[in-house]
Amino acid sequence: MNAEVKQFERTLVTSALPYANGYIHLGHIAGAYLPADIYVRYKRLRGDKVIYIGGSDEYGVPITLTALKEGITPQEVIDRYHTANAESFKALGISYDIYGRTSWPLHVDTTQQFFRKLDQEGFIHTESVELWYSPQLERFLPDRYVKGTCPKCGYTDANGDECEACGAQYAAQELLAPRANVPGDTSSPVLRQSRHWFLDLPRFAEKLKAWLDGHPEWRANVKGIAYGWVNDLRPRCITRDTDWGVPIPVEDEDAAGKRIYVWFDAPIGYVTNTRQWSMEVAGDENAWKRWWKDPGTRMIHFIGKDNVPFHAVIFPAMLMGQEDYILPDHVVGNEYLNIFNRKTGQSEKGSKSRGNMISVRWALEHLSVDALRYYLCAIAPESKDSDFDWDEFMNRYNGELCDVVGNFIHRSMTMTVKNFDGSVPAVGLLEAEDVAMLDAIAEQMDAVADALEMFRFRQALERYIELGRKANVYFDAMQPWVTRKTDMERTGTTLHVCCQVVKALCYGMAPFLPEGAAKLASLLNLRLSGGGPDGGPDAWREALVRLESGWKLESPQVLFPKLDPDRIAELAQMHLEGQAF
Ligand code: 2FM
Ligand code: ZN
Repeated sequence: MNAEVKQFERTLVTSALPYANGYIHLGHIAGAYLPADIYVRYKRLRGDKVIYIGGSDEYGVPITLTALKEGITPQEVIDRYHTANAESFKALGISYDIYGRTSWPLHVDTTQQFFRKLDQEGFIHTESVELWYSPQLERFLPDRYVKGTCPKCGYTDANGDECEACGAQYAAQELLAPRANVPGDTSSPVLRQSRHWFLDLPRFAEKLKAWLDGHPEWRANVKGIAYGWVNDLRPRCITRDTDWGVPIPVEDEDAAGKRIYVWFDAPIGYVTNTRQWSMEVAGDENAWKRWWKDPGTRMIHFIGKDNVPFHAVIFPAMLMGQEDYILPDHVVGNEYLNIFNRKTGQSEKGSKSRGNMISVRWALEHLSVDALRYYLCAIAPESKDSDFDWDEFMNRYNGELCDVVGNFIHRSMTMTVKNFDGSVPAVGLLEAEDVAMLDAIAEQMDAVADALEMFRFRQALERYIELGRKANVYFDAMQPWVTRKTDMERTGTTLHVCCQVVKALCYGMAPFLPEGAAKLASLLNLRLSGGGPDGGPDAWREALVRLESGWKLESPQVLFPKLDPDRIAELAQMHLEGQAF
C-alpha cells in the first residue's frame, strides 16, 4: 500500500513495447505480458474502469541493423515482426485494448510535443560528443553499430554503449578495440565530433527522489535500480546519428541526419497508442486525456528488469517536464525467465546465439494457450529469475491444473448432470463440512484477489489451486458416489455445494486461463462479463452468489487435456536442437 493510500477512479496498464525486430518468446511473456494481462482481466471482472495499452517499438538501432543484415528495408522488418507479434499476443489471449506502432504518424506528433515542451522549459541542451565513425561508410556508428571490448569486464563482444555481459554502460570513447558491426565494413572506426541533444536529468533529481520515496510498496528489485540511477543522474543523450526515428523538432542544421533516440520516443508510444485508441475505439479524440492527465488515473507499467531505469526514472522525468501528466503509481519490474537445459542439467540465459529461446508462435503450434499460461504464471520470475523446464511444465500442469481443478470440476459436474437431471440439486440440511466448504470459497477468492492486487501472481494462482484442493478433500470426505445409493437428499446437498465451488472456480480461473474459463462458463450457463474502459458490474463478487437449485447445467467436457510425456519429450528434444523459435 502507498504511504498515503489513494483511491483511484481508473487504471491504465501498459506492457513494454517489444522491438519489432524479432519474434516474442516465452521469456517476454512470463515477465511483462502475462502478469499484466492477468491483472487487467481481473480488474475488468471487478467492474473497474481499465485500459491496457501495448504495441511495437519500431525505431532504433536493433531494427536498422536487422534490415542491413538481411538486405531489406527497416519498414519491411517492422511490418513483418509487428504483424507476427500482434498475432502471437492475440493467440495467447493477451487482451490489449490497442496494440499500436511507434511508426504511426501520430507518434511523431506526440514525441515532438514532449521534446518541444522539455526544450521550452530549458530541460534540453546540446553538447558536442566524440563518437565512433566509419571512414568506409562515411557515417557515425551509433550504439550497436560498433562492437568492441568492454572497458569494465573485458567481454570482447560488447556493444558501443553497453555491455551485455556485465551490464555496464559507458561513453563511446571508453570502448576498447572498436570494430564496425555492419556487414562489409572492414575499416577501423575513428572518433569524430557530433553535436547532440541532451535531457538534463539532474534537474529532476529532487522531484524523482521525493516521488520514489512515496512508493515504499514497490518491489525491492525495482526500487534498488531506480534509487541507484536517481542518486547518480547525468544529462542523457536523446538523439542519434541515424535517419530511422522521429525527426528532432528544432530549426538547426545539425539536426539533419539525426533522429530522436528510441528510448526517448518508445515510452511516449504508450501515450500515442492511447490517443489512437481514443479515436479508433473510444470514438472521442480527447478520451486519452482522462487516462494521462487526470490524477484519478492509476498508471501501472509491467516490464522486464532491463527496462526499469527507463520506466522508473527517465520517463517519469520526461512526464514531470510536461504539463499535467500523471506519473506511474507502480512499476512492476520482473526478473528473467531462464531455460533449464536437460542435457547439461544447468539453467542458462535465453539467447538468440544459443538458440535456446522458445517463440510464442512455435509454442502455440504445439501446446494449448491455457497450459502455457498456467505454467508461465506458476513460475513467473517476480522476485528472482526462474527456469523454464519441460518436465516441470508437464508435472505442474498435469498435477495441479488437470488433477486438482479439472478433475474436481469434471467429477462434480458429471455426478450432478447424471443424477439430478442436468441441474443444480436442491440443498438440504447443511453439515459442518458443507458450511466450511462454502466459507472456503469466499476465503480463497479473497486470497486470490488480495494477491493479485499486490501483483503477486504466483501466489494468486497458488491460492486458486488451493480452492481446488480443498474442494477435492470435501468431495472425498462426503463420498457422493456412496451416499447416492442410500441418501439422495444428502448427495444432492453435497453436489449443490460442489456446484457453488465450480462456479467460483470458473470466475477465479478467468484472469489466468481465459479459454478454460470461457468453456466452463458456457457449461454453467454463466456470462463472465465485467468492466472495461467504462467500468461495469463487479462480476468477481458474483462468483460468491450461489447458483440456485434447478439452475441448468450442460454436460461436462474435459477442460484441460493432460500432456503426454512422450510428446513433451519430443518437444523438449526439438527445443534442445534449437528448433523452438
Ligand atoms: O526492451 C525492449 O524491448 C524495449 N523495446 C522496450 C520499450 S518499453 C517502452 F518504453 F516502450
Ligand atoms: Zn562488461
